[in-house]
Amino acid sequence: MGGRDTRRKISLTGIKPTGSAVAPEQGGTLHLGSYFGAIRPALAMAAAGQHDSLYFIADYHALTTQRDPTVLRDNVYDVAANWLACGLDPERTIVYRQSDVIEVFELCWIFACIVATGQLERGHAYKDARSRSESVNAGIFNYPLLMAADIILYDSDVVPIGADQKQHLELARDIAIRMNHLYGEGTVVVPEALITEAPVVPGHDGRKMSKSYGNTIQLFAPPKALRKEIMKLKSESTPLEAPKPSEGQLVYELYKLVASEAEAEAMAQKLHAGGYGWGHAKQELFEALDAQLSPLRARYLELRTDETELERILQAGAERARVIARATIERVRAAVGIGLRSGV
Ligand code: ADP
Ligand code: TRP
Repeated sequence: MGGRDTRRKISLTGIKPTGSAVAPEQGGTLHLGSYFGAIRPALAMAAAGQHDSLYFIADYHALTTQRDPTVLRDNVYDVAANWLACGLDPERTIVYRQSDVIEVFELCWIFACIVATGQLERGHAYKDARSRSESVNAGIFNYPLLMAADIILYDSDVVPIGADQKQHLELARDIAIRMNHLYGEGTVVVPEALITEAPVVPGHDGRKMSKSYGNTIQLFAPPKALRKEIMKLKSESTPLEAPKPSEGQLVYELYKLVASEAEAEAMAQKLHAGGYGWGHAKQELFEALDAQLSPLRARYLELRTDETELERILQAGAERARVIARATIERVRAAVGIGLRSGV
């Protein structure tokens, strides 16, 4: 990726492999919210080509809450297959599994030695877990440290994240600044958050689509199941002939995510004119979604059933990621006084 001064900026995205354990043929672990709210905007950024992009699956972060080894592994493969099917290009970006580059733990320990426990105690996620349970594992407490190591290990300049991850990024920045203050400017790259402007995708009940609300529509549900879910969406109940509102209506809001501006405008006109019912609108929404998702669904199913190929992609990515990681670790070890003296 070039010398440190001339290199292109690095963008890094971590994806936590959590899912709702839905079988691949039933639609896999991700839902429409993950696609329109996370995958599509992240891939648009990679396509813009302004950065060298790294994407990794944060399986060690998932281990803070996942106790079933089969589910954890399944989720890693499933998330990888989802992202690759949606267009993540392992040739133009580096795609890897967090646990395949163990250098991250060395950096994590070094960071643990310069961070005050109070800073971790103020973590939103930790405080939230504490408020729900008496015993919170140390993994949850240390989650932001591992995340800072994920970021800094790869010389990341920008980290696209949702607003909920902002505090984690601030800690990563603080750590990087502190490292450079203690051990010399240029020891590590100070990362910057890039708060992504992604739409909030509503679920069945109008609230944010989320596994925790049980209001999701699986991204790769088979066409019949997808149509059934769309037909179940809440809509207001004016007679067919009556003019209908568009903005703020669940069906219309979802349609806007898949349709072109002109198509969305056309649906709005039909709704406003009357004589066009929500059944019609749902059918159009289903057709638009199915047309867009069908080719991706086919690719997902093909990839998902070939774990050897997924593993090959992840290993090739890890190999490239490790080159950057090793250079950072060597620099940091030399700076903090770990290992042999240079020249010895
Ligand atoms: P869930 O809420 O179902 O548990 P996750 O927390 O696993 O979803 O979300 C993974 C990513 O997808 C996050 O970046 C999150 O911001 C995004 N995301 C999830 N649901 C939505 C939604 N309904 N609208 C927009 N983005 C979403
Ligand atoms: N904590 C992030 C999430 O829950 C996932 C993540 C782990 C991450 N390490 C990261 C995101 C590094 C960005 C950079 O979504």
